[in-house]
Amino acid sequence: MLDDFVILRGTANPRLATAVAESLETPLGAVAIERFPDGECSVQLLQTVRHKHVFVIQPTRTDQHLVELLCLVDAARRAAAARITAVIPYLGYSRSDKRGSRREPIAAGMIARMLQSVGVDHLVTLDLHAPQIEGFYHIPVDALTAVPTLCRAIREEEQPPAGMVVVSPDAGRVKTAMEYSRQLDAPVVVLHKRRQSDVALEITHVVGDVRGRPCLIIDDMISTGGTLARAIDALFREGATEPILIAATHGPLLDDARRKLDYPTVKRVLVTDTIGASISDWPGWRIVSVSELLATAIRCIARGESLRELF
Ligand code: R5P
Repeated sequence: MLDDFVILRGTANPRLATAVAESLETPLGAVAIERFPDGECSVQLLQTVRHKHVFVIQPTRTDQHLVELLCLVDAARRAAAARITAVIPYLGYSRSDKRGSRREPIAAGMIARMLQSVGVDHLVTLDLHAPQIEGFYHIPVDALTAVPTLCRAIREEEQPPAGMVVVSPDAGRVKTAMEYSRQLDAPVVVLHKRRQSDVALEITHVVGDVRGRPCLIIDDMISTGGTLARAIDALFREGATEPILIAATHGPLLDDARRKLDYPTVKRVLVTDTIGASISDWPGWRIVSVSELLATAIRCIARGESLRELF
C-alpha cells in the first residue's frame, strides 16, 4: 500500500507488530535476530532499506529488548535508511525521570540520549509515565495515548455501572484520570500514595466521595499490582461499593500482579497489548489492542499527515 517505508520488529512483541503490519497491509521487513552463545544479540536486516523510511516496532520492557532495538536502528542507519522512526509502545525506564535522591541516575534521559545517538529520527510512544520525558529528546516525539481506546472498550463492552467514579491512584495520574472522566462522564477521585520502597507503599488519603459508588481505577501501568491493591483497600475502607473496574495502558504484569489483584469485587482488569504479556488464563483480565492506533500513527507519519485525530 505504501512503498517507501519498511516496518521492522524486534522480538519483544511480535503479535502487536504483526497486527500493525496487517492493518497497514504491509509485510514486516525481513530481519534475523538471534542470540550468541553468551547471550549478546545478533541482528541482520535481510532486505534493503536504502533511502526508505524505516519504522522499528519494539517495546523496551527488558534491557535485552532495548539493546535489540538499538542494534536494529544502528543496522538500518548503516544500511542507508532515509529516516528511522522508533515505535516504542512501552518505553522502559520512564519512571526514572528525575532523581529521587542523591547519587541516582535519570535513566529516562539516558535512554533518550542512547536512542538519538544511534540514529532515531522520530519517536512514537504511548502514555508516557510523565509528559515531560518528551523534553529529554531533541527529535519529534509523538506521545500518543491509549485512553480513548480503553474508554471505548469500557463503554462498549463493560457497561460502566451507574454512579461510577474514576479514581487516580496517585497525584501523577490526575490528568489521565480527568481524561477518562471526560470521556466516560464520571467524576474524579484522587488518592494520595506514599511509597516507602519499590514494593512497599500506602494510600494515606482519599480525596473525593466514594461512599456507595463503584469505581474505575486507572493507571499508566500495572507492574507488581501493589499500587492498585492498596487503592482497592483504601476505597473500600471509605465505603466504595462493587464492582471495581481497572484500566491501565501498560502491563509489565510481574507474577505477583494477578494474585495481588485477585479480589472478588474486581469485575474486570483491562490492559493494552503494548507489552504483550500473556494473560489468556487470567480470569477477569482482558487485553485491548492498540494496533489500530499505532497503524494509524505510522500511516499518517509516513504520509506526512497530522496526527490530530489520534489525540
Ligand atoms: C507509579 O508512579 C506508576 O504510575 C504506577 O502506579 C506504578 O508504577 C505501578 O507499579 P506497581 O503495580 O508495582 O505498584
